[in-house]
Formats: sequence, structure tokens, C-alpha cells
Amino acid sequence: MRTHYCGHASEALAGQTISLCGWVQRRLDDDAAIRIELRDREGLVEVVCGSEHPEAFNAAMEVREDFCIRVEGVVTVRPSETAGGEALPGCMEVVCSRLEVLNPSAAVPIRLDADHLPETARLTHRVLDLRRPPMQENLRLRHKVTMEVRRYLDEREFIDIETPILANCTHEGAREYLVPSRVNDGQFFALPQSPQLFKQLLMVANFDRYYQIARCFRDENLHADCQPEFTQIDCETSFLSEQEIRDLCEDMIRRVFRNTLSIDLPDPFPVMDFASAMARYGSDKPDLRVKLEFTELTDVMKNVACKVLSGAANMADGRVVGLRVPKGAGMPRREIDAYTGFVATHGAIALHCIQMDEKANGCDRLLPPLLTDISDDVLATILERTGALDGDLVFFGAGKAKVVNETMGMLRVKIGHSDFGRKNGLFDDVWAPLWVIDFPMFEYDEEDHRWTATHHPFTAPKDGHEDLLETNPGACLAKAYDMVLNGWELGGGSIRIHRPELQSRVFRALGIEAEEAQRRFGFLLDALQYGAPPHGGLAFGLDRMVSLMTKSDSIRDVIAFPKTQQAQDLLTHAPASVDEKQLRELHVRLAAPADRAS
Ligand code: AMO
Repeated sequence: MRTHYCGHASEALAGQTISLCGWVQRRLDDDAAIRIELRDREGLVEVVCGSEHPEAFNAAMEVREDFCIRVEGVVTVRPSETAGGEALPGCMEVVCSRLEVLNPSAAVPIRLDADHLPETARLTHRVLDLRRPPMQENLRLRHKVTMEVRRYLDEREFIDIETPILANCTHEGAREYLVPSRVNDGQFFALPQSPQLFKQLLMVANFDRYYQIARCFRDENLHADCQPEFTQIDCETSFLSEQEIRDLCEDMIRRVFRNTLSIDLPDPFPVMDFASAMARYGSDKPDLRVKLEFTELTDVMKNVACKVLSGAANMADGRVVGLRVPKGAGMPRREIDAYTGFVATHGAIALHCIQMDEKANGCDRLLPPLLTDISDDVLATILERTGALDGDLVFFGAGKAKVVNETMGMLRVKIGHSDFGRKNGLFDDVWAPLWVIDFPMFEYDEEDHRWTATHHPFTAPKDGHEDLLETNPGACLAKAYDMVLNGWELGGGSIRIHRPELQSRVFRALGIEAEEAQRRFGFLLDALQYGAPPHGGLAFGLDRMVSLMTKSDSIRDVIAFPKTQQAQDLLTHAPASVDEKQLRELHVRLAAPADRAS
């Protein structure tokens, strides 16, 4: 049916008769001929239907945008008056001798050549949206990335093994999607949040190096970098140290970037421990392209008269930080107000700022004037620590450490990415990868009053930290590591617990007593008894990686059929209600709508 792709009709084919299949991008009629821009997955070519081939000419008269057609013709050099015109690449055209409509098209509801289309329209008409060149490029890059990953891991003797989708709860932190079992009345499968436990079992089963491009499911609130159904590049190895695993993963990512986009990532990636990342950036995934850092001021603010600042500084879990913005005094006042407003909407945090101004005798106080209560020596310490110079601006955040970190961390990124930040050298447009290591084993859940696992409950504590499991869980660090790129968590992993006694101690620290541990994780504890090897691994978020590589606004742009932020598929209308009979078979009865709403 077809001899070549449209996008391949090059000079090398001049004089040859070829046949092409594709979709009509545009039809342009002039006195001499009908010109059709024909599109397929490799690109565009111009097909010229002139009166010397009346049948083809007449068939071309019927053609409209997005008709699927087949043409035959001779590849020729485009005459100079049309060469290089319009959006067509190259200087060749196909002089059509035969044209066949394979399938006409209804009028398409979205313009395929539009720069900006509302996302709802794009997701509703996803098939047409996917025809657009940017989407074609994104999905092809995704394919290249997975091929590169497979090649890399295959060369290093990793084995691709599939693990179940109908599984049991993995207890990795997110809410799970449940699937009722028809043949086991009242029982449910859980869709896996990740293949975590299966890959650990594969290490015990002597596969030594496993990988899988694995589909994962998490029923969580969706941010721009999250999907309920997403894909991991999931790896696990036996007998490798944390450093060896990180080296291998880093090398793989460097190779993927080099071989797909010709980008050389730094070698080696910088490494930072979790505590430093939080102290300096308020985030465990800092965007290192932004050249702004926190200054710790909690100790300085303990005795100041301003209650908002001293109150936060004296709180058990309080924090006060400064964020110095070089040349920030040049920022328009309305921009400063907008940042204050932004901070105000992100939790109870007091934001103040001082503006360094020579004329105002060293320091002019802005927003609100609470800082007037600060004594000169405290102010001198603040200026010395922040390194503020004339013309700079210093924002202060005070409150609970968690809120200060989150909010001031977002403010840091916002200012860095702003026009002001870009113009004033606060943002470096580079690729900024980073390893964050030494995460805490546990986080305290204020609502449930208990410790939860920061990574997952199968992560090993750092050497020498085991005793803290019982004595001071909050101080216990883990052999866990995240790879961060431009402020996104690209991947996370850890060295796992391979001894059943230690695993039981971690379960206990999490408030999971022996009986419950046996019921929920008996299969793991049993497997660990049979000479389980030391093992560890990591999983990358494939969707996140490709969206960073394509500089997409959302991971939905690199997934063929994604869900909206309300976890709906606008194309197929999933999720949807099902009929009574199906529910009965599954032993499921729905609550009345009023009860469901509550
Ligand atoms: P973690 O939960 O950190 O670790 O997930 C690994 C990586 O998966 C990606 N990711 C997501 N991508 C899109 N949408 C989501 N909802 C989503 N959630 C996570 C991120 C993240 O870094 N089993 C462990 C890995 C291990 O320990 O080996 C795990 O799943 O890029």
C-alpha cells in the first residue's frame, strides 16, 4: 500500500515514483493545481495534483482536512516560487498521478495545528490530540527512553520479570485501588502501588538483578507530577552496596539523557543529606537551578520582642528562616505583595521582609512593621548571617517547621523562576540533578499519633542506628536515597531489610505488633528466613522523567491516555457506574447516594 513515509520524501528519491499514506493537513487550491499537505508520523510532504492527471485531480477535489488518503506520484524538486514556503520542510514535492480516499473524516472538533488547546478538549478528543506533532514527539521520546533503559539494564544482566497486577496491599503509604473478587466472596485484590515486595522476593529467589517497566496504581490527590496510574522503571539487585546501586542508576540516567537528547548531565551528581536539604532549601527535592538558600534564624529570634517571631523560635517544632533575595529591593512592590499573599494562603506562617537601603540608613523595614521591635544587635546578626547587602531584600518565614519549610521552599522556587529571578541571575537554566540521602526512617503522624515509614517499612536503618528503633525513632536514619532533577523527585530507593528479626523490630516501631505483622507480611518474614541476600534497589518515575525531558507542563503530556486531576478518563468516561447484576456477582452493594456523599 505504501512505499515510503511522507516525512522521508527527500532529494534522494528525486525522479522515483512512490506511494504514500497519510492524513490531509491542508488543501490549497490555485489555478494550476490542488496542493495537499499530507501528514504521517514521520512528517509532512506536499502533494501536487494537476490537470495532467485528471482522475487524481478530480479525486483531490473531494478531499478535506483529516481525510485519510493514499497517493502515488513522482518525487520532484519544488519549483522555486513555492519552495521553502509555508511550514513544509525540504524542497521536494510529490506530483500525484493517483489519489485514493481510504477514509473520509468528519470535521475535527479541535484544531490540530493550534498552539494552545484547552486540556479538557484535548483529553476528550485524545485520539486527535495524539495526532499532533508535539504529542507524537513526546511518545516517541518515551519509547526511546524505555529502549535505552532496557538496553542498559540488559547489558548489565538485569532480567525483566513481570509481577502481579492483582495483588495484595503493599502498604507503601498511598491509598490503594481495590478490585473485588467474584469467586472469593467479600475479598479484594489491591492494585500494586509498586512491585516492591515482589521484587524483594525475587532477590530471595536468586534472580540477583531484576527490572520491570512496571505499571503502578495509587489513589491519591493528584498534583501536576502525579497520576493514579503511572509507570516505574523498577530495579532491584542483590549484593550491591548503596553506593554501587546509586552509581549504576546515575550512570543509566546519564546514558539515557546522552543517547536520547544529546544532553550531558553532570558527572558525578552532587549528593546532599536530607537534613542539609531541609536546612538549606526546606525541601527534600530542591530545585538547584534556583540560586537562593535559607538562612537559619531560629536561635537569633528566640528573645526578640515580636511575638510572632519569638513564639515560632521557641516552639518545640518551630522554625524561623530568612531568604535573602539579592537585588530584591528592585522588585516591584506589587510583586512583593503577591508573594506575601501567596505565603498567607499556604498556612499559618508570618512573612516579613526587610529591604536593605543605604539611604534609609542601612535597613528600611517593609511589610508589616513588626520588625521594628528588633534590636540593633539582632539585626546585625541577621544581616551578617544572610549576607544582605544594599539593594537586597530578605523575606522571613516563621511558624511550625513543616509549614515554614514547605511555604518558604515554594517561595524560593517562585522567586527563582520569576522574570525578576531570571533577569537577576537567580535561576540557572541547566540540568540540575542531585542525590538526597540519609532520610529519616520515620515521620510522626500528628493525626494518628504514631510513627509512619518515610520511604516504606522495608527500608533498612543506617548502620549503627538500629538501637534508635526502640530508643529514639525520630533520630533513626535510613539507607534511603532519592534522585532529584530540577526540583522533581525522579526516583527513590533504599537498601532493604534482609533479616527477619530486624524487619520485625521495624514493624514494632511502626506500631505493627507480631500477630498483625504475621498476618499482613507473613510471606515476607517467612521468605527472609531462608538466607535472604542483602539487597536494595530503586524505582524511577518514567512519566516524570519524560515530562522533564520534553519540558512538558504536566505528566499528562507524556502519557497516551492519562486521567484528569479528578482521576477521570475523559475519552472513555472511566470510571463509570456498573449495572446491578455485575455488582451482585462481585458481592458488592452500594450505599445509598446520601450515605455515599457523607
Ligand atoms: P516511590 O514511592 O518513591 O518508591 O516511587 C518511585 C518513583 O515513582 C514516581 N511516582 C509517581 N509518578 C507519577 N505519579 C505518581 N502518583 C507517582 N508516585 C510515585 C516518582 C517516584 O520517585 N517501591 C519504591 C521504590 C523502591 O524503593 O525501590 C517506590 O515505589 O518518580
